[in-house]
Amino acid sequence: MNRLVANLMDLSRLRAGALTPTVEPLPLEDIISSVTRRLAPALAGRQVRVLVREDVPAVPVDVVQMDQVLTNLIENAVRYTPKGTPIGIAAARWHGMVEIRVSDRGPGIPAEARGKVFQEFYREDVEGRRSGTGLGLAIANAIVTAHGGSMGVEDTPGGGATIWLHLPLDGRAAT
Ligand SMILES: Nc1ncnc2c1ncn2[C@@H]1O[C@H](COP(=O)(O)OP(=O)(O)OP(=O)(O)O)[C@@H](O)[C@H]1O
Ligand SMILES: [Mg+2]
Repeated sequence: MNRLVANLMDLSRLRAGALTPTVEPLPLEDIISSVTRRLAPALAGRQVRVLVREDVPAVPVDVVQMDQVLTNLIENAVRYTPKGTPIGIAAARWHGMVEIRVSDRGPGIPAEARGKVFQEFYREDVEGRRSGTGLGLAIANAIVTAHGGSMGVEDTPGGGATIWLHLPLDGRAAT
């Protein structure tokens, strides 16, 4: 209940512009490794492939908020895919932005759900796994939007869900 209320408060603050990111340029590797280390118990028995391309510069992000985004995406990848299946986290430059992709090899997100998964309270039980409150992706999207970026869903080639996000490199975020 505490977590639910805290999440709802964060979401409305972000949308009201009252939780603006405090950005500083940070190496993505550092944020990714701190999240994967914290989630190590949940990630046990899985291959986690992290690939941050060498030409990816430090990205202006709010470290607490970006940690939350990656945590929500990786928790979903764990929750909605079979035990032992791999998870990929990749970052590359993309048209003057940085693109981060979190990919899994689970059932994927059907095309008709892709417009809805970023809405608050949208949730579905996937392959018998009880879903959560339907706030994780809405919060992630609100944070990325507050950074001046965007998010979307694709198929992982060969099957599974890939969530991508684009972050501007010019510190365009609300400051
Ligand atoms: N990697 C994924 N593979 C398959 N389905 C997914 C994946 N990520 C999200 N979904 C679907 O999108 C829905 C919304 O995800 P979201 O993270 O917003 O909420 P949740 O996981 O249900 O709850 P919460 O994150 O608040 O605990 C999920 O209920 C699930 O149906
Ligand atoms: Mg979730």
